[in-house]
Amino acid sequence: MISLVVHGGAWDIPDDLVDAHKAGVQAALKAGWAILSKGGTAVDAVERAIMVMEDDETFDAGTGSFINMAGEVELDASIMSGKKFQAGAVASVQHVKNPISLARKIMEGNEHILLVGMGATRFAKEHGIKTCSQDDLITNRELDRWREIQGRKNFITKDAFRRKKVPVDTVGAVAIDNHGNVASGASTGGTPNKYPGRVGDSPLIGCGTYADNEIGGVSTSGWGESLIKVVMAKTVIDLMDHNGGDPEQAAEDGLKILVRKTEGYGGIIAVNNKGRIGIAFNTPRMARAYVTSEMRAPFAAT
Ligand code: GLY
Repeated sequence: MISLVVHGGAWDIPDDLVDAHKAGVQAALKAGWAILSKGGTAVDAVERAIMVMEDDETFDAGTGSFINMAGEVELDASIMSGKKFQAGAVASVQHVKNPISLARKIMEGNEHILLVGMGATRFAKEHGIKTCSQDDLITNRELDRWREIQGRKNFITKDAFRRKKVPVDTVGAVAIDNHGNVASGASTGGTPNKYPGRVGDSPLIGCGTYADNEIGGVSTSGWGESLIKVVMAKTVIDLMDHNGGDPEQAAEDGLKILVRKTEGYGGIIAVNNKGRIGIAFNTPRMARAYVTSEMRAPFAAT
C-alpha cells in the first residue's frame, strides 16, 4: 500500500480560517499524490506536498510565516529518507522561498545534515535553490500580527501555548512509495515574535521528523520547546516499533508522553512500513489530509 499524509498545523484554528486550512492541505495532498500514485518516490512526494504549503500564505511555513522579534522571517525545515537514513535540515534560514527544497539539497549532498543561518542561505545560493527578499515572505496578515504583539506589554509565547491559542501552522508530510521507501518532512516559520535564532522541533531530526524503512515515518506539529524535550518524532517511531507497528496507537501514546512530561500541545502524523496511517492531536483543531492506494477518495479535515 502506498500512502501520503500531510498536516497544516495543530492549534486552535479560528472558524474563519478553517476552510483555507482544509483547502491548503487538500492541495498539498493532491500535488504529492500526483507524484506518488504514478510511481514517484516518497521523498519527491513529501517535498512537493510541503512546497505547496510553503507557497500557501495560509500556513506558518515559507511565505506567510510568523515574524520574529526583530521583524524578520527565519525558517526551519527538515526532510528524512528512511531508505539509507539520509537527512537534511535548515534552521533560522533567511531569504529562501522553499526551505524544504534546501533541506533536500543538503540531504542529497551527503556531507552535512543541518545548516543554519547565513551558511544555509549561502548553500542555497551555491546550489541553485530559489532565494528571495524578506518582503517576499512577509504578508500583511503577519505584519499586522507582529505590530499588534509589539504593542502588548507582556507577550510570552510559553504562556500563550498553554492556552493552545498560539498559531503553530507548521506543515509536514509523511509518505511511503511503491518500493517501500518511507520519507518525512516538516517546515515552519516557528512561533510568533520568536527570539531571533530561536529553533523549534521542525529542523531537528528525531524531534520534528523521522523516517526508518523498517518501522515508518513521523512528522510533528505544535509547541517546539516541548516536542524537543521528548524527542517526539523518534519517540513515536520507537513506540511503533514496540507496539506491533500500530501508527494510531503510537501517535496517541506519544502525545500522552508529551503531556505527562512537558504539559505540551501538538499533533503527530505517522505512517507505518505497511502504509497504515495514524494521526493524533491534543489541540482543538489540526489541519490534515491523507490518502492511500486502498482508499476510494482522500480524507481531509480541520
Ligand atoms: N513546531 C514548530 C515550532 O515550534 O517551531
